Amino acid sequence: MHTLSIETSCDETALCIYSDEKGVIGDIILSQAKVHFPYGGVVPELSAREHTKNLLPLLDKLLKDTGFDIKRIDFISFTLTPGLILSLVVGASFAKALAYYLKKPLVPVHHLEGHIYSVFLEKPVEYPFLALIVSGGHTDIYLVESFGNYLFLGGTLDDAVGESYDKVAKLMDLGYPGGPIIDQLAKGGNAIYKLPRPMIEEDSFDMSFSGLKTAVRKIIEKGDYLKEDLSASFQEAVMDVLERKILLAMEKTGIKRLVIVGGVSANSELRRRFKEKSQKLGFELHIPHPKLSTDNAQMIAYAGMERFKRGIVAPENINPEPNIPLEIFGKLWS
Ligand code: KG4
Ligand code: ZN
Repeated sequence: MHTLSIETSCDETALCIYSDEKGVIGDIILSQAKVHFPYGGVVPELSAREHTKNLLPLLDKLLKDTGFDIKRIDFISFTLTPGLILSLVVGASFAKALAYYLKKPLVPVHHLEGHIYSVFLEKPVEYPFLALIVSGGHTDIYLVESFGNYLFLGGTLDDAVGESYDKVAKLMDLGYPGGPIIDQLAKGGNAIYKLPRPMIEEDSFDMSFSGLKTAVRKIIEKGDYLKEDLSASFQEAVMDVLERKILLAMEKTGIKRLVIVGGVSANSELRRRFKEKSQKLGFELHIPHPKLSTDNAQMIAYAGMERFKRGIVAPENINPEPNIPLEIFGKLWS
């Protein structure tokens, strides 16, 4: 069976042709980072315009590069939610038009479900497991019981971790996306600044990162600071909070199997730290290759295939939503 998947929830336009037997047949991704760079963050209208401009030429290139006949597609999978609504609408309209033309079903995918299953593209993970999703829009911990069964344990009450990286980078005038830039800078710095670790001591899985950003801003406003040291200090505070909450989740659930996904899971310090902890404490750790950490269409294809195999297809009048909770989405149409 073959699917064509479409991902347009934020600032990456991505398409993938995927087979349940052969895996990824072809994959294409166009980042809009350059378009948003001057603004220090994603501009929703520009994002939607870029998706509209690029989807068709990208599909054309994907089909030419792979030599794949689009008529062999069994269904179209696409990101329905969550994301920037205008960008989701562009992707959904494209998916619907293709499905109509090819007379094939449409399979809606949740972007976070896609992220969770990005690790399965490399190697399936045994259930149950804990999933830490750290991206530009989300910082959540889920207990994944099986495909479609997601229990939300807790998450950020304000900024997502990726969002804080981007905002802190903007405060330091480093450009967008801030995560990879701060990741690099931190390697050459020392964590000498005292920064808060909000909610770290609380006996819950909730987190908060906006106070951390404000503390960074205060240091910047004083004027005299080293970007490398501030980056290292900020990163250490973030990782301390994530580590503590994950260890708490393991303690409370007794589950010693962890998946870390989403753009921030590309972070080198996050990888180093959790690898070290997993070896020391003896838990199983799965983090996808950095290329699969950030937004891509392979993960949407994988989750779409799992949904289709369970008989889940969308009605023709389906409409994207900015944020359907994953727990609820997992039970829809099944
Ligand atoms: O998953 P993703 O590509 O898109 C969303 O679904 O949000 O995540 C994008 C986020 C951005 O905030 C970006 O700064 C962050 O992931 N990111 C990183 C790194 N690479 C990307 N954050 C920290 N370190 C990195 N190496
Ligand atoms: Zn994402």
